[in-house]
Amino acid sequence: MQKFIDEIQNAKTLNELENLRIAVLGKKGSLTAEFAKLKDLEGEEKKEFAAKINQLKENFNKAFNEKLQVLQNLELDAKMQKEALNFSYFDENAKKGALHPVLSTMDKIIEYFVALNFSVEKGPLIEDDFHNFEALNLPKSHPARDMQDTFYFNDERLLRTHTSPVQIRTMLSQKPPIRMIAPGAVFRRDFDLTHTPMFHQIEGLVVEAGQKVSFANLKSVLEDFLRYMFGEVKVRFRPSFFPFTEPSAEVDISCVFCKGCGCRVCKNTTWLEVMGCGVVDPNVFQFVDYKNVSGYAFGLGVERFAMLLHQIPDLRSLYEGDLRLLEQFR
Ligand code: PHE
Repeated sequence: MQKFIDEIQNAKTLNELENLRIAVLGKKGSLTAEFAKLKDLEGEEKKEFAAKINQLKENFNKAFNEKLQVLQNLELDAKMQKEALNFSYFDENAKKGALHPVLSTMDKIIEYFVALNFSVEKGPLIEDDFHNFEALNLPKSHPARDMQDTFYFNDERLLRTHTSPVQIRTMLSQKPPIRMIAPGAVFRRDFDLTHTPMFHQIEGLVVEAGQKVSFANLKSVLEDFLRYMFGEVKVRFRPSFFPFTEPSAEVDISCVFCKGCGCRVCKNTTWLEVMGCGVVDPNVFQFVDYKNVSGYAFGLGVERFAMLLHQIPDLRSLYEGDLRLLEQFR
C-alpha cells in the first residue's frame, strides 16, 4: 500500500492519479480485493482485518485528495496562463475612440465643481410628481406641468423634466450643509433646431446653516465657473423666474462666436443665455423640513455648453451618430 501512496506523490497528471485510484479502489483494485476477503473471515480476526484495511483506505484517500487538490490547482493555473489576455498589447494603427462631446463637456463641468468639494448626486429618470414638481414649489396649476412639456406615464409618474428633483432627494436624505451637483438626462416633449426630447442637465445646490449663503456667493461661483469653461467672457445676470428660487436669474455670457459684433448664434444680441439660477425659495426648504438654512441653486443644459464650446450649430447633430462629426473629437 505504501507503494501506491508513494506513487500518488509522484503523479504528474490528473490522469495518472485517476489510474492509481482505479488500481487501488476500482472494481479490480488491490484494496477492493482485500475488502472481498472479509466475507471469508469471522469474529475477532474479521474485526482486526477490517480495521486494518479501512485504515489503509483512509490513508490512501487522504493522500489521493491532497494530491487531487494540488493537481487541479496546477491545471487551473496552466489554463489561465494559456487563456490570459495581454492587455499591454498596443496597436499603433488601431482607430482610437473618443468621448462624445456631450460626455466630455459633462466631465469638464463636473471636474470644476468636484474641485470645489461638491458631491456628485444621482436620481431616477422616472420621477414622481412630488419630487419633479410639488416639492419644488410647482403647484398643480403651474404651466411648466403642461402636457406639452412633460412625458407622463400617469398622474403620478413621469420622465423627469429637469435635474432639480435631485435637489429634493438629496435634501431629504442628507443633513445640511450641502454642496452637490447632479448631472444626468432629462426629458421634454420638444423637438426642433435647438431642442431634443432627451438632453442633459447639471444641477447645482448649496445649502448652509443660517444666513451664510447669498446671491453674491452664487454670482461669484458662477462667474468663475463660466470663465473656466469659456475663457475671458463677460457674464451678466438677468432677473428671471423659477418657482423654486427667489430671487431668480438667467445667466448670459458675451457671445463666444462674434465676440460682441453680433451674429446668427446670439441673434445679434451679443449675449448667449447659458443657465438658470437663484436663491433657494423658503417654500422648498419647508417641503424637505430644513429649518434655519440658506442656499442657492443653478441648472444648465450640457448640450448647449457642448455646442458653444465646439461651435456645433445644430443640436440634433449631437445625436445622429454621424462619424464625420464624431471623428473631430478624437
Ligand atoms: N430646473 C431649471 C430648468 O430646468 C433650471 C434651474 C435649476 C433654475 C436650479 C434655477 C435653479 O430650467
